[in-house]
Amino acid sequence: MNTDVFLIGSGQTRFGEWWEKGIRDLMYEAIDGALESAPCTALDIDTVIVANMIAERTNAQAHLGALASSLLPHRPPALRVESACASGAVALHTACALLESGRAKTVLVLGVEKMTDVPPAEVSTALMGAADSEKDAPCGLTFPGIFGLVAQRYMFEYGLTREQLNTVSAAHHRNAVANPFAQFRAEIPAEKISQSPKVADPLCLLDCSPISDGAAACILSTAFESDMKLAASQLASDAVSLTERESITSFPATKKAMEKALEEADTDRSSISHIEVHDCFSIAAVINVEDLGFAEPGRGIELYEQADPVPTINASGGLKACGHPVAATGIKQLIDVSKQLRNSGNRWGLSHNFGGACASCGIHILEHIHV
Ligand code: COA
Repeated sequence: MNTDVFLIGSGQTRFGEWWEKGIRDLMYEAIDGALESAPCTALDIDTVIVANMIAERTNAQAHLGALASSLLPHRPPALRVESACASGAVALHTACALLESGRAKTVLVLGVEKMTDVPPAEVSTALMGAADSEKDAPCGLTFPGIFGLVAQRYMFEYGLTREQLNTVSAAHHRNAVANPFAQFRAEIPAEKISQSPKVADPLCLLDCSPISDGAAACILSTAFESDMKLAASQLASDAVSLTERESITSFPATKKAMEKALEEADTDRSSISHIEVHDCFSIAAVINVEDLGFAEPGRGIELYEQADPVPTINASGGLKACGHPVAATGIKQLIDVSKQLRNSGNRWGLSHNFGGACASCGIHILEHIHV
């Protein structure tokens, strides 16, 4: 980073089905929580960045930057960022760029999505905006279908069994029991995962992140300090369609962003104690830990088979159990990593957020500096 950027405040709604709340209510709740935990006042916010993917389709609402700004007394300048499910990470990155350039000093970064107001089929169609509308959508694919293909291929290449894959969602559900912000807080035995209804072979309902409402907000600042410093903020991109990839069992954007992030933070992989990875589907979590370099190709599942993996993986419950209001996820992941670092007293943690089939990827590394 070109300057010290601190995470000085954070707040979120519980993710879930919030039929009695509007998108504005969700935003307000997350902003309120962030301001309450920060050493600054609302008037110190000089820029608002809102991450959102599909509000035009699910809530007939665009212009979310101004809408969020209107919830603050002085209505600071605001903008909206969209990069599919990676919108949260890209909004954080945009905030870092403004802070590093000196254009802004204290930025409110807010991710929000309210997905349950329309039928699931409409949500699926809207989410397919993250795929290639000429190459993927005409085949009738949905995202569970895309990751079903990825899982089929991964099982063929590496011999992963359906039973082994069950450990991923089971671990995420187990972790979420302790997280009051998670959508699903019940432990689910591993064998129940593959007994849940089939969605896109071999993926079942309990391999999929759910459709969720929720908002998460972070306040990043160069003017106020805290014990959580942004050590790296990196993005990488890839072809949107899987048909243009050399392999569908590894996502190069994760590898590229990780390499740059470790370099920027001036740390190494083995120093990282907590990671939150983008487990939109169970198979994605397995691939992510491999692409991040915490396991060899084909062996990511071994981390899930350990009782206490190092680093901890999705101790929050991940997208699977916390819920996945798509643009709020990347911001919520950073909040979770900061909580995990404070609880453990460890120094380094990482959030990994991707859009589509990892056509856009954002990695943030947090440094807990008073240890
Ligand atoms: N995990 C756990 N429970 C889930 C769930 C999930 N992913 N999705 C739904 N449920 C629960 C619901 O709460 C509901 O329980 P209830 O009957 O006790 O109320 C039940 O399962 C059926 O839910 P329903 O809403 O009818 O499911 P659905 O068939 O409409 O949708 C999926 C299920 C998996 C297809 C949907 O959640 C989905 O499309 N997920 C992927 C979203 C996605 O692609 N995100 C972007 C990733 S890149």
